[in-house]
Amino acid sequence: MNSPVSASDKDRVVIFDTTLRDGEQCPGASMTPEEKLDVAEILDTMGVDIIEAGFPIASIGDFESVVEVAKRTKNAVVAGLARAIPGDIARAGEAVRHARRPRIHTFVSTSPIHLAHQMRKSEEEVLEIITATVTQARNLVDNVEWSAMDATRTPIAYLLRCVDAAIKAGATTINLPDTVGYATPDEYRAMFRTVRETVANADRVVFSVHCHDDLGLAVANSLAGVEGGARQVECTINGLGERAGNAALEEIVMAIKTRGDVLPYTVGVDTTMLTRASKLVSAVTSFPVQYNKAIVGRNAFAHESGIHQDGMLKESSTYEIMTPESVGVSKTSLVMGKHSGRHAFRDKLKALGYELGDNALEDAFRRFKDLADRKKDVYDEDIEALVDQGILTAHDRVKLVSLSIIAGTRGPQRATMKLDIGGEVRTEEAEGNGPVDATFNAIKALVPHDAKLELYQVHAVTEGTDAQAEVSVRLDAKGSPVTGRGSDPDTLVASARAYLSALNKLLARGERLHAQAAE
Ligand code: KIV
Ligand code: ZN
Repeated sequence: MNSPVSASDKDRVVIFDTTLRDGEQCPGASMTPEEKLDVAEILDTMGVDIIEAGFPIASIGDFESVVEVAKRTKNAVVAGLARAIPGDIARAGEAVRHARRPRIHTFVSTSPIHLAHQMRKSEEEVLEIITATVTQARNLVDNVEWSAMDATRTPIAYLLRCVDAAIKAGATTINLPDTVGYATPDEYRAMFRTVRETVANADRVVFSVHCHDDLGLAVANSLAGVEGGARQVECTINGLGERAGNAALEEIVMAIKTRGDVLPYTVGVDTTMLTRASKLVSAVTSFPVQYNKAIVGRNAFAHESGIHQDGMLKESSTYEIMTPESVGVSKTSLVMGKHSGRHAFRDKLKALGYELGDNALEDAFRRFKDLADRKKDVYDEDIEALVDQGILTAHDRVKLVSLSIIAGTRGPQRATMKLDIGGEVRTEEAEGNGPVDATFNAIKALVPHDAKLELYQVHAVTEGTDAQAEVSVRLDAKGSPVTGRGSDPDTLVASARAYLSALNKLLARGERLHAQAAE
């Protein structure tokens, strides 16, 4: 069997990352195919056991992304999601067959509420579907995961029958998701215990948790499920995912590593890569990480109050339960300025959790020098914003060349913008109700589109009037939003970058759909 860990390896918890599938389902968090490959690569390198690469039937783009991730992944199992529909399963099988270690993950709803209102099927019909679809998947690959969608709102007697049917049909992993984030830890733990104790041959499969964070309990529930006997945790980087998100991978992994005394399990993830992975996912999705987010938030290791600082200076364990280094943030005393060289810059990036290839490093260094010319003190946050900007725009078709604005009390405000559109540089002038409006109008004149601006948000990356502005823009095209982020010491340039970042995502999506229609 092609399982990452044998069912007998009883204390090893396998980490199943679904950032590229459930994470990407989060409105506005879509990623381009290249970005998905970058995320998959870091997940594979850091030792994630299973990468759920996407939902192959959803579109040609999704299918191709799963194929590409499957081809390139060296160690992890690569899973493709499929509804309990023969066409879905066949498509998922076609996509993951390129992987060294392929898995089909098929799911069906089991709760009365889903059966009545969404599936419009009886319990007996769903049982037949489980048998047929898991059997079909097992005929395609050896490694099959079956999920009972909305398991936590399913009467236990019926859930037992479903799990039994899935195991009999050949499922190798049984996932019991808390799809709507409704369970409490005690309930979730008890559900796993009951299922494992009751269903025949439960010891031959790996049980899995998959928790959503609607009540802020996703991580607690996941760990409770592990206590109940689950040995696979489905989670996402930064807790990205549908609605309030999924359980955060970094929190699960660090809870297990830090509290081995009460959570006696092992995981195979290299925790020193957690910060890098978090930054990459934040940059490519344009979803900022909340400052006080556990493990990877900017303030996760910051000690502000006098008492805490005093304790830290005397002995760091007074207020630190894990070291910043253990999650990939190294302490550094390097102060960056316009005289800093390439070597110091690379060390600083490493300390901040980034590892860039030669070209990306060269590009980031050039932009750092440019920033240092314009800004006296370059803080860590400035460098993070600058590198994220580079990651975000690396594959863009439309790039900002220059922007100048006439603004002030005597309107109308006017923007003159030069864009590089697929290699051709074009200029346009536009007026607007304020300089931001004029800037966005200039973009619309150069790249006509009918997406609507849904959100425009500005915050300062650091303190002081020369701080970089970080702008988020959400554009909505036919009900499917994309988010872009841009930073620059000039708020209007940051606004233009953010708008262009969102627009580039829309254009990339349009191109994929166009290619799909042409096939
Ligand atoms: O939340 C959920 O139930 C899911 C399934 C598809 C596993 O994401
Ligand atoms: Zn989910």
